[in-house]
Amino acid sequence: MTPPTSSSTVTLNVNGEKHSLSVDHRTTLLDALRDRLDLTGTKKGCDHGQCGACTVLVDGRRTVSCLQLAVASEDREITTVEGVAEGDRLHPVQQAFLDLDGYQCGFCTPGQICSAVAVIEEHAAGWPSAVTADVRTEAGPPPLTAEEIKERMSGNLCRCAAYGQMAEAVARAAAEASTDTAVTEGTAA
Ligand code: FES
Ligand code: FES
Repeated sequence: MTPPTSSSTVTLNVNGEKHSLSVDHRTTLLDALRDRLDLTGTKKGCDHGQCGACTVLVDGRRTVSCLQLAVASEDREITTVEGVAEGDRLHPVQQAFLDLDGYQCGFCTPGQICSAVAVIEEHAAGWPSAVTADVRTEAGPPPLTAEEIKERMSGNLCRCAAYGQMAEAVARAAAEASTDTAVTEGTAA
């Protein structure tokens, strides 16, 4: 009897580019990104889904890439920290982290930035968090307080404990995003 195959060729769509790779079925998305595509911005911390260092966006949702298999990521839209900027223009979250010292050693930063990008979108879409007082849809998004930001970012650990500056950076980027939206809506009206 032919033994079952242990590898497959998958197409990974990362930062707008398609890559065809032959991977062992046990290969995580994290290892495929780092070891096969040389996208080492995504970090391996715990490799157990507990620290958030490996966070990337998969179809716009934050995902710990150490718990996702590469073969389960085929044809999904994957964005790593290398893909959040627009050319030479940093994403507002990246710029706010830089301006407000939202990091120290920087190891957790790529995961924090990917998470923050999604947090701002989740909040704008009205998703409640565990600390949201009024979760009724008609109540709309709660104010993005420091408490809200810390809860929403709580899956991303920072050994340097730069949490205060990170919360400020996320708040600033979120405020900029809501101003941009208001300006766009005003222009469209
Ligand atoms: S390396 Fe994936 S959560 Fe820690
Ligand atoms: S900045 Fe060092 S672990 Fe977060």
